[in-house]
Amino acid sequence: MDSEQAGQARWVKIDLNAIADNVAAVKRLLDPGIKLLAVVKADGYGHGLVPVARTAIMRGADMLGVTHPEDGVRLRQAGIAAPVLIFRPLLPGEEETVVEWGLIPSISSLAQAQRLSAAAVQNGRQIPVHLEIETGMERTGFTPEILLSNLDRLLNLPGLLLEGIYTHFAAAASDTSFTRRQYQFFDNLVQEIQGRGVRIPLRHVCNSAAALLYPELHLEMVRVGNLLYGQLPAGIRKSSLPDWLQLKDPWSFWTRVVHLKQVQRGDTVGYGRTRRLRSNTVLAVLPLGYSEGFGLDVLPRPAGWIDLLKVLAKTAGSFLGLPLGIQHVSINGRTAPVLGRISMELSCVDVGKIPGVGVGTPVRLPGRRTAIRASVPRVYVTGDVAEDTIDSNRNCLSEASPE
Ligand SMILES: Cc1ncc(COP(=O)(O)O)c(C=O)c1O
Repeated sequence: MDSEQAGQARWVKIDLNAIADNVAAVKRLLDPGIKLLAVVKADGYGHGLVPVARTAIMRGADMLGVTHPEDGVRLRQAGIAAPVLIFRPLLPGEEETVVEWGLIPSISSLAQAQRLSAAAVQNGRQIPVHLEIETGMERTGFTPEILLSNLDRLLNLPGLLLEGIYTHFAAAASDTSFTRRQYQFFDNLVQEIQGRGVRIPLRHVCNSAAALLYPELHLEMVRVGNLLYGQLPAGIRKSSLPDWLQLKDPWSFWTRVVHLKQVQRGDTVGYGRTRRLRSNTVLAVLPLGYSEGFGLDVLPRPAGWIDLLKVLAKTAGSFLGLPLGIQHVSINGRTAPVLGRISMELSCVDVGKIPGVGVGTPVRLPGRRTAIRASVPRVYVTGDVAEDTIDSNRNCLSEASPE
């Protein structure tokens, strides 16, 4: 058993050096002068808000992006002074937080801008704001018509400084004509506003997929999340990346075998008796389950007939006992299938064909990074780039690798 995690039953290891290298790689995608906003929402996509933010800023990111103002406050409380853009519209009453902590709100409506202006004036402050434009995501942002009809009132609100304007692509990786149409709506609007003599320093439209596929749309800034975490956006193939753009995976999820058991052909494993064994084997019990986030995944509505057939095939296959749609873990460099249903805090895997497995053997798990429970300890691997990046709000163990 490795000394660093001795006694630990579960942990997520995060390599901040890999994130630092990914930030540097993304910066190389951009022409000099184009800013990088590092998207650190959702606890840095499950890698830890503060450690990721510090690493990104240290490696040259210009701005940080989060959904909620309280995440902006956490960054400030950790001593991070970089500009922080808040993506979602503010609830009435949240303006004070934004003003107090020097965060940059996104504006989606005149009413929101008016409340913010009042809070800014009351505190004697000028607040930089970014206008969000709705061009096809149908989520947040002004529609171009509503923005234009309110533009004069917006621009005359005291206490607000128009720093940026942006839109968010709905299908940058998969639908070129829709993406181009979204950009056209955006660009027409920006030109109309600039034609009225209004200066907007930062235009930004690209997420990871668009930053890769549409270099001509980098504008003054890009907003990148997935690539910083070594993840390719759905729909982008590794082969489509330039050779020099080597992304590193900073994240791994670990547990240890707590129990081994001989089981016989015909035995069933776990709740509901959903899995009947076809041969004698050895079963290893792992001390975690769906309450830690293991085995949880989003099941989006199928995007088309092929997607639907895949979902149906997996469900039917697993009902018939075929190894379809079954999670696998990695032990001693070999893969082991999960047997039966993942329980709340325990799971079983088949290790009958894997030599050298004992109580305490480390097991690497797959997992949706944003779904792994915050109480699972995070171990940050740091080097010269991020010596002091351990997030004191987190349950951190050590700086060493568990492998
Ligand atoms: C407004 C906004 N911009 C940029 C991003 C980054 O997207 P990605 O992780 O694909 O780079 C997100 C994340 O979904 C987002 O909500």
